[in-house]
Amino acid sequence: MWTLLAHPVNGYKKSTMPPGDFSEEMDETPNDPQVKVLFVDDESNILRALRRLVAEENFETLIATSGEEGLEVIKANEDIGLIVSDQRMPGLTGAEFLEKAKAIAPDSLRIVLTGYADLQATMDAINKGGAYRYITKPWNDEELIQTIRDGVARYSLFMENRRLTELVNRQNEELKDWNSNLKKRVLEQTAHIGKKNEELAAANSRLHQTFDQTIKAFAGLIELRDLDVRDHSRNVADLAVAIAQELDLDKNQRQAIRTAALLHDIGKIGIDDAILLKDTDVLTARELEKYKLHAIRGQAVVDAVDDLREVGILIRHHHECYDGSGFPDRQRGKDIPLGARIIAIADHVDRISKRIRQENALEMALEKTRQQLGRLFDASLFPHLEKHAKAIYSTPDKLAKHRGMVEAELSPEQLLEGMIVLRNVVSGTGLLLLSKGAILDEAAIKSLKRYYKIDPPEHAVLVLRQL
Ligand SMILES: [Fe+2]
Ligand SMILES: [Fe+2]
Repeated sequence: MWTLLAHPVNGYKKSTMPPGDFSEEMDETPNDPQVKVLFVDDESNILRALRRLVAEENFETLIATSGEEGLEVIKANEDIGLIVSDQRMPGLTGAEFLEKAKAIAPDSLRIVLTGYADLQATMDAINKGGAYRYITKPWNDEELIQTIRDGVARYSLFMENRRLTELVNRQNEELKDWNSNLKKRVLEQTAHIGKKNEELAAANSRLHQTFDQTIKAFAGLIELRDLDVRDHSRNVADLAVAIAQELDLDKNQRQAIRTAALLHDIGKIGIDDAILLKDTDVLTARELEKYKLHAIRGQAVVDAVDDLREVGILIRHHHECYDGSGFPDRQRGKDIPLGARIIAIADHVDRISKRIRQENALEMALEKTRQQLGRLFDASLFPHLEKHAKAIYSTPDKLAKHRGMVEAELSPEQLLEGMIVLRNVVSGTGLLLLSKGAILDEAAIKSLKRYYKIDPPEHAVLVLRQL
């Protein structure tokens, strides 16, 4: 006869945690599932004694009065932790029973109770039944309870170890999944960021282009006031940038100098034509005062644009003289911002060369400028200016003619990239669209096509083109 004590036994919970924080799950003990201990003996008084012995212990006790019954109990409780069986029983012997029990519940620990003289039976129980301990009858209570406790503890440890191993294996698998997903996501994100960067770079370049076109449009506006100095701003910008490059100035400084050179006379827009058309030498004192205001006014105009504040400072000082005799602040020497000193000398060369109207105008303008070094201009800048002036003022037409190019007057639709402009292209209302010597590119051709629609020039475009 045997009884099943109705203690619910908790299984080992499967992890539902995401990987990353294992500590909680590692610490988690599976709610102290009670280990099941089965006693098998054909003598009911022994079973009673055994139950009494373990009555206070914290494990679930099951009993069976024969090996056959014991097997039934095990089949119903495959998670049995410890089996304590008598060796000498009618029917199955303890060794035979343990052998079968081992096949059903291989994780269980098995103990056999034998008589002193039963050496062969003990060996069978150990070898066949996989018993890990044997206890001789009659037993010592203390020894037996200690052996049972050890067995239960050993089984618990074994199961806990297995649980943790399974947990680690499972979490390793989850980690592997996460790693491969993470790698995939990182690659996707990298590609996404790369695409966004390209879009940003494109937007930035469009912004720069727009800025550049706006500055050029302003420069064109200034040149409209005085048709004689049509490409003045552009020439000053080319000369000034060439000097800035020689001085190894960084990109931002070169950009500021170029913009300031293009806009240096923007303040003239508010000055009377009567004053502008006169040479400064013949202006009355009052007219001269008004004329001088253009430097400050120029700064004031661009100061409203954050990005042009530095440019505004260069514009303000483009008429300062090296000896302190200039305007508006009478700065002298190296106190004058370098960009303003560069623009001042470039401005002078271009103005003088335009006034001379002779074949060797540039050489004469350079000579006149040289005479003013140290007085009006920073002498250290002159060699750089001289080095680049010829290339900037000479048009590539002569060179091109040597390469077998021929002149042609073409409508905007007939223009091709690489053609060289031989005559300034001026819009119907007098805006300089392209300077003589410019080499056509896609943007220039597009721009000309637009202008021929909105403000058509009087002539077709005179160019050099390949035969
Ligand atoms: Fe000026
Ligand atoms: Fe100027």
